[in-house]
Amino acid sequence: MDTVLVAGATGTVGSALIPALLDRGVTVRAMTRDSGRVVPGAETVVADLRDPESVAAALKGADAIFLNSPSAPDAAEVQTRFADLARDAGVDRLVVLSQYAARADSPVRFLRWHAGVEAHVQELGIGHTVLRPNLYLQALLAFAATISQGFFTAPIGDAAVSAIDTRDIADAAAVVLTEAGHTGRTYTLTGPRAVTHDQIAEALSGALGREVAFHATSAGRFAAGLTGLLPPWQLEGLLEDYAHYARGEAAEVHTSVTDLTGAPARDVTDFARDHAAVFRSE
Ligand SMILES: NC(=O)c1ccc[n+]([C@@H]2O[C@H](COP(=O)([O-])OP(=O)(O)OC[C@H]3O[C@@H](n4cnc5c(N)ncnc54)[C@H](OP(=O)(O)O)[C@@H]3O)[C@@H](O)[C@H]2O)c1
Repeated sequence: MDTVLVAGATGTVGSALIPALLDRGVTVRAMTRDSGRVVPGAETVVADLRDPESVAAALKGADAIFLNSPSAPDAAEVQTRFADLARDAGVDRLVVLSQYAARADSPVRFLRWHAGVEAHVQELGIGHTVLRPNLYLQALLAFAATISQGFFTAPIGDAAVSAIDTRDIADAAAVVLTEAGHTGRTYTLTGPRAVTHDQIAEALSGALGREVAFHATSAGRFAAGLTGLLPPWQLEGLLEDYAHYARGEAAEVHTSVTDLTGAPARDVTDFARDHAAVFRSE
């Protein structure tokens, strides 16, 4: 039976990927820095992506890996080193979690970092697949405190984004990690339609049974509200992301989720219904 190593196993996509892989009957090795963490159904392996020795040990005997880590100024370095260690360990299937519109010359730093990792992996000479998901619908959970009070704000105007539910990213990743035929492919993963933040507010209002309003704001005002709460690289990167969305550059709808999983991608109304309790209780 194949062993799949999942990095970021306790995170947004990883936590949905573990059960999706278990459903497919593979052995799952969940990577975490927390030695006290139990991931049901999976072997837990303690490793830190910034500690190459721990990563090399985690990789022993893995047949496939899910390469994912949170945004950080050294994310590209950490991820390329992980990919090198995977090659050294003889892994023959590497699935890279990148981002929609990753490009070396993007004005968005996160998209440049992801493009660097993609380019590195393409030169490694091992089987690999790249997943480029659009904005996560689960990113809305960060706005739960104000949504529970009836509003949320962002510097995005009335631009539409084909935002995706991370459960669909996990389902698509489980397919490419366990089935043949995806080597060398890049899949852009989106939701089933592009939605404006007013439409997201409408979906939340429907699910909560009470009014949730979206207030568009300027980048300057948005930044002022977060200054001191986020490190500068993160705040600047977030503003670059929003400027990219506001320019309408993340509105294409792709069919990759359905093509890979055979199921329709979840809509924002599904996301709102399934997370209503979180938005009510904050
Ligand atoms: N947010 C979006 O809308 C969006 C859209 C497209 C693409 N993306 C991309 O998605 C990726 C993941 O971002 P995310 O914020 O959702 O993160 P995430 O996948 O939730 O990852 C967080 C997890 O990473 C683990 N982790 C953190 N630092 C680590 C380290 N040094 N070594 C090993 N594990 C570590 C932590 O696990 P433990 O605490 O258990 O160790 C944590 O649970 C990023 O590359 C981002 O660019 C995000």
